[in-house]
Amino acid sequence: MIDRMQLGRVPAKPHTVFRGADGRLLYEECLTRRGFDGEFSILYHDGPPMTDQSLAPVDSCSYRALPEVLPSEPPLRRRLLLGEKAPGGFTPILHSADLTASLFVLGPTSLGDHGFSNGDGDDLYFIYSGRGLFETPFGDLAFEANDYVLMPRGVVHRLLVEEPLEGLLLELRGGLHVPKEFRNPVGQLRMDAPYTHRDFKRPRFQGPKPGPTTIVVKKDDRFIARTPLSSPFDVVGWDGTVWPFAFPILSFQPKTGLVHLPPTIHTTFAAPGALICSFVPRVTDTHPDAIPCPYPHTSVDCDEILYYVRGNFTSRKGVGPRAVSLHPAGIPHGPHPGSYEGSIGTRSTDELAVMVDTFQPLRLTRQARALEHESYHESWLL
Ligand SMILES: [Fe+2]
Repeated sequence: MIDRMQLGRVPAKPHTVFRGADGRLLYEECLTRRGFDGEFSILYHDGPPMTDQSLAPVDSCSYRALPEVLPSEPPLRRRLLLGEKAPGGFTPILHSADLTASLFVLGPTSLGDHGFSNGDGDDLYFIYSGRGLFETPFGDLAFEANDYVLMPRGVVHRLLVEEPLEGLLLELRGGLHVPKEFRNPVGQLRMDAPYTHRDFKRPRFQGPKPGPTTIVVKKDDRFIARTPLSSPFDVVGWDGTVWPFAFPILSFQPKTGLVHLPPTIHTTFAAPGALICSFVPRVTDTHPDAIPCPYPHTSVDCDEILYYVRGNFTSRKGVGPRAVSLHPAGIPHGPHPGSYEGSIGTRSTDELAVMVDTFQPLRLTRQARALEHESYHESWLL
């Protein structure tokens, strides 16, 4: 999705005879998106990737918890969910037809030894704290705090937690992409895009390796356990444009205007029904009479999630790291009372946050209820 990579050994032409060192035929795995119309990668396995010894439903999976939506919650209520109260594992907090947002708190033994593959969507992690490694057929992907990590739909992986992890996970049902306006006609990232090809952390490939003997696949919000005949990581080489990556949020290049620019300048990634934006430390607007704080806005189509990472957020008072706010479409929203006026004259901001605008209305989950700041909505009333 970023660009094409080629690692390890691949034949000169796809779909031709290709043998391992012992003369045995290797097996292709073509991982395709949007049917066969979209981006794809081709991997070469020692063993048949499609052969399982068993395939059976299981009740749960340590890599995911399912959202229990509260359908009767009153709409138009502003919400603040306190991530510091999140329990261990994954906690789904907000859900729509397009995405599920979850908080996660993971230790070295949280996930067990099995692998995971999400058949329902792309998984975009934002790492608030900690350090880890995703083992995948494409190689090992290392990541740390302040990284986004994308695990594409259908990629088998095992997560090794090296330092306890906390953060936000977005399951994007329609898949994530780089906005097309960031690319030139041949697909290269433009020089005025907010990031470059060099900013992305890529899988480190070292050849075939043992993998998990059980893989739990999530599909239609149900879990199926596979026991593959051979290691899912028995890959001798691959090429293509689908691969997991990490992107450090602090590599996002912000834009500053004469006056306040709309939130779209923070666009980092896009998905059907959602836009993912990065608010990073930056110089604010340069006009002597500029109001640096976001203007109140009636964005009639979008619910807005903000995940606060650190710094003093210009527009919101009393929100701390790991908090998630939800501001629903249908009523105007904007800065907390007093913040708009108070921002005049400031020349920089140290805020770091992830914002997600969604077109489908978000529903609160039962799991989120336990994290809710009960008087946040009232903090907007006079
Ligand atoms: Fe907004």
